[in-house]
Amino acid sequence: MAAATILVVDDEQNILTTVSRALGLEGYAVEVAGSAEIALGKLAKQTFDAILLDVQLPGIDGLAMLSELCERGISTPVIMMSGNATIETAMEATRRGADDFIEKPIGSDRLVLSLQRSLEIHELQRENRELRRRYDFGASLLGQSPAMSKLREQIELAGNSNASVLILGERGTGKELVASAIHAASSRADGQLENLNCAAVPEGLIESELFGHEAGAFTGATKQRHGKFERASGGTLFLDEVGDMSPQMQAKLLRVLQEGEIERVGATTTIEVDVRVVAATNKSLQAEIEAGRFRPDLFDRLNVVPLKIPALRERIADVPLLAEHFLALACEVHDRPEKVITPGAMRLLEGYAYPGNVRELRNLIERLVILTPDKTITEAHARALLPIGTGETVGSYFRPETPLREMVEAAERDLIGRALEFRDGHVTKTAADLGLERSHLYKKMRALGIRKTGSE
Ligand SMILES: Nc1ncnc2c1ncn2[C@@H]1O[C@H](COP(=O)(O)OP(=O)(O)OP(=O)(O)O)[C@@H](O)[C@H]1O
Ligand SMILES: [Mg+2]
Repeated sequence: MAAATILVVDDEQNILTTVSRALGLEGYAVEVAGSAEIALGKLAKQTFDAILLDVQLPGIDGLAMLSELCERGISTPVIMMSGNATIETAMEATRRGADDFIEKPIGSDRLVLSLQRSLEIHELQRENRELRRRYDFGASLLGQSPAMSKLREQIELAGNSNASVLILGERGTGKELVASAIHAASSRADGQLENLNCAAVPEGLIESELFGHEAGAFTGATKQRHGKFERASGGTLFLDEVGDMSPQMQAKLLRVLQEGEIERVGATTTIEVDVRVVAATNKSLQAEIEAGRFRPDLFDRLNVVPLKIPALRERIADVPLLAEHFLALACEVHDRPEKVITPGAMRLLEGYAYPGNVRELRNLIERLVILTPDKTITEAHARALLPIGTGETVGSYFRPETPLREMVEAAERDLIGRALEFRDGHVTKTAADLGLERSHLYKKMRALGIRKTGSE
């Protein structure tokens, strides 16, 4: 492993010299800064493994610098140093995220010990985050169908490389989930996964969003801000809805992908970024290219490894597993006791085409949980909630060369029959569901030849 690089910030030259020497002897690489401003400048270009920070500094002082680090999302461990610290200052520093507090004159043993401990803790936290992410990944991308197993294999393979991945799939198939799985399976899992919805970036803000800006770059830019590329550096940038990107944004994106460097708006220097791009769309990019709406050169950059997520109707075998998973989840979220789905209800769920894919199944199960007070979700419950157009559709009541009255009667007979079944034959409840007087429902039942099976 390369030597850890430490940034030492102090306005006293002799402290910089002694601390650098002490750390150098222990094998650390050291950078020094005479003020917080200089240190922040360095931090904007480079990452450090730890920061040693004096409390009293001209300009931005140590405590203000801690807040600034927090605001910029820099989570490098910080050890504070002070000549005449009060307990209050030390506590305030800890509150603002400092790891440790050392009094001057600085003993090199104490310094090295504190630094080692701090680096160790941060490494453990990093491992912990990674383990949790891997666990989430394993738990969340469900499905045992051959199509899903193949997809999982492809994710592992793609994760192992640095190549751009283009995820293709209909709405609700799990594109975002797959993107985070690729990130989690990659050597960049430790870095950031940044999401950018390409369809939702206002035209005027594209550059600032992608590349960030310097303070004062334009009206309203009061502070320096890192853009998506900079934040995703060392990690993954997920470009969602890539098929809906404006031509302007396509041009800008293509340039960064080609050059691997960015310029914050209002900056005079360029910054190298090391970003792995994963893009997703539910559109056919080929069709978009043919229509002149998508750049073929950008397509080539994004489409190094295409990953197609099959629609849920093409892997119906996954429905029971997903349904059980969403059932347990919904019961927990809505604070309902555990429920079960009968085999008949499950068969019905397996028979539906799910134009909205996994998200639609999730919503459907959630609705079933909310609307079914019983512990058991039956076929009748499921049938009542499945959207019209599934199973026997309105269309299937059509009979060629048949009077309308007969077709409507057949539909009514079926619908009333199902509504009764849903209420276990309870006529009063069914009548209320259907918005009919109880006597009117009885009359209809008689006329349609529906026999009363339940109570009342
Ligand atoms: N294989 C899966 N296992 C478990 N949950 C899944 C799976 N696929 C999708 N989901 C869940 O379905 C929902 C939709 O997934 P996601 O948002 O990733 O889809 P998407 O393809 O990005 O949708 P859209 O095109 O609408 O943006 C989420 O709640 C997600 O957790
Ligand atoms: Mg999505």
